[in-house]
Amino acid sequence: MNLSTFIVFLTLIGVSVAGGGYYYDYDSPLSIYGLSSPNCAPECNCPESYPTAMYCDGLKLKSVPMVPPGIKYLYLRNNQIDHIDEKAFENVTDLQWLILDHNLLENSKIKGRIFSKLKQLKKLHINYNNLTESVGPLPKSLEDLQLTHNKISKLGSFEGLVNLTFIHLQHNQLKEDAISAAFKGLKSLEYLDLSFNQMTKLPSGLPVSLLTLYLDNNKISNIPDEYFKRFSGLQYLHLSHNELADGGVPGNSFNVSSLIELDLSYNKLKSIPTVNENLENYYLQVNELEKFEVKSFCKILGPLSYSKIRHLRLDGNRITQINLPPDMFECLRVANEIALN
Ligand SMILES: *[C@@H]1O[C@H](CO)[C@@H](O)[C@H](O)[C@H]1NC(C)=O
Ligand SMILES: *[C@@H]1O[C@H](CO)[C@@H](O)[C@H](O)[C@H]1NC(C)=O
Ligand SMILES: *[C@@H]1O[C@H](CO)[C@@H](O)[C@H](O)[C@H]1NC(C)=O
Ligand SMILES: *[C@@H]1O[C@H](CO)[C@@H](O)[C@H](O)[C@H]1NC(C)=O
Repeated sequence: MNLSTFIVFLTLIGVSVAGGGYYYDYDSPLSIYGLSSPNCAPECNCPESYPTAMYCDGLKLKSVPMVPPGIKYLYLRNNQIDHIDEKAFENVTDLQWLILDHNLLENSKIKGRIFSKLKQLKKLHINYNNLTESVGPLPKSLEDLQLTHNKISKLGSFEGLVNLTFIHLQHNQLKEDAISAAFKGLKSLEYLDLSFNQMTKLPSGLPVSLLTLYLDNNKISNIPDEYFKRFSGLQYLHLSHNELADGGVPGNSFNVSSLIELDLSYNKLKSIPTVNENLENYYLQVNELEKFEVKSFCKILGPLSYSKIRHLRLDGNRITQINLPPDMFECLRVANEIALN
């Protein structure tokens, strides 16, 4: 049973407890999770039928409560935690998930090597806090790191985190120089979200294993030649709300055969960048497009040579129906949505 089905299950238990005539307070965690197991921190809730999870959300806590041995999933969201002591997790070195979203943590008040001692830690979420740098050192077991909505302008090294697969860093203050090289050697990284940061260029040294790369809402104005070719499995690439104009986009920048989805909306493009025939979703709304050329999608036309585009957005540009060439549908054969003004 995964955690979300489990919570539904627990909600049902909570209801049946209430129906059985027990004391029932709609505002207490009890009403959500059922009875708490006895060796839980008194202010928190460890569901009796799921005793390895401890929920301490929304309790106005100023520090991490006592965490009893056996806890693997720890939720501390929506509190006022502004520091973590070196010994906070001394009794739970096999912790797997640590969720600290919506607190007041700063880097200088996270003491010692607390995370790297957690040798089983897979998820670490510190979204919506007051971090100015990434946290670390981190344990090699980590798979999912989320540090969004902080004020991060510096990244430490993620060297050796062989299982790190997801990194969420959107809504921070990162410039390209802070990012270049930080992710080197992350062999498993598949998902990287760097949207809503302060990059003016694409960072160098991103792992070639990426499948999803989100760079929306930065100030990127140019793509180095062949930049995306290295990512041989890249499927989802978003660059909306940047400053891309034709001069900054060399001819085959986005002709990457693995790409399924490309978002270039809200830029300053006047012509449609060439894409590979395999692309399925292409978002170009709100640019300065003036013309539609079939060769942006199909180099040659033939029985087996056509574009796989399904969704194409061209609205918010200067292209209208009359700009569309008659042979367009020989190339865009499987399109089922082409949005125009
Ligand atoms: C860890 O367990 C010991 C022994 O039960 C206890 O004295 C100590 O306070 C615990 N530490 C934390 C941080 O909960
Ligand atoms: C922490 O962040 C909150 C919300 O962004 C802000 O109100 C507060 O001033 C910050 N505190 C410090 C010490 O930076
Ligand atoms: C990485 O993940 C694999 C597969 O889940 C696991 O066997 C291995 O122990 C993990 N490595 C570390 C350093 O945790
Ligand atoms: C994209 O590049 C490949 C070679 O890598 C080429 O065969 C193909 O024609 C190009 N696509 C377009 C639309 O130019």
